[in-house]
Amino acid sequence: MKLRRLDQVLSSLGYASRRGAASYVAEGHVKIAGEFAERHDIRVDIRQVMVDDEPLQAPDGLFALFHKPVGYTCTHSEEEGDTIYDLLPPRWPQRNPAVTSIGRLDKESSGLLLLTDQGTLVQRYTSPKLKLEKVYEAKVDHDLDESLVEIFASGTLMLKSDEKPCLPAQLEILEPRLARVIITEGRYHQVRRMFASQGWQVDALHRTRVGPHELSHLAVGEWRLIEVPK
Ligand code: URA
Repeated sequence: MKLRRLDQVLSSLGYASRRGAASYVAEGHVKIAGEFAERHDIRVDIRQVMVDDEPLQAPDGLFALFHKPVGYTCTHSEEEGDTIYDLLPPRWPQRNPAVTSIGRLDKESSGLLLLTDQGTLVQRYTSPKLKLEKVYEAKVDHDLDESLVEIFASGTLMLKSDEKPCLPAQLEILEPRLARVIITEGRYHQVRRMFASQGWQVDALHRTRVGPHELSHLAVGEWRLIEVPK
């Protein structure tokens, strides 16, 4: 069993600042093995720590699914209006390392976003080598044409100001103005730009899956912790 200093634990998990940990403990938020903690500088087994009668949240690393609503930006900057962090526990950006999104959805897009405080996971999931599938549903401004299936799959579709063509993408026409698109890259506004390059405007874009992770029954604005992958 690994022992860690209580104030370090509390600050790394965003419960209190390093300096504020002493008063946080003195205020009676923290119990160790069922007894109120009296000092902040003791070494503890994190499994025995409770804060406000709850076990510590994701003490070994946080990984979560989030259903991003339209109208929120994936940024820590407060100058950008409404951000996804306004919808998430305020403790998450206070963790060290802070919780951040793995990749982004643009402000007007909705759907599945993965969140983590594990830098290695961000790198792994965003590595171009992995070619992780991302599945989107796109509503467009006029009826789709079957020719798009081949164009998206061709590996030759060029986006304005990009140097290389897009990797082959799968497009399935679900309704006259609704398509499912699977891409394995993560270029800026990629799906919208792929359609725009062929003369279609995407009016609504929704992500339903990232690799093995499905949005499934998460309601808009809801998040759920899942196990950190090995
Ligand atoms: N492609 C886009 O155009 N926007 C997103 O948010 C994600 C992929």
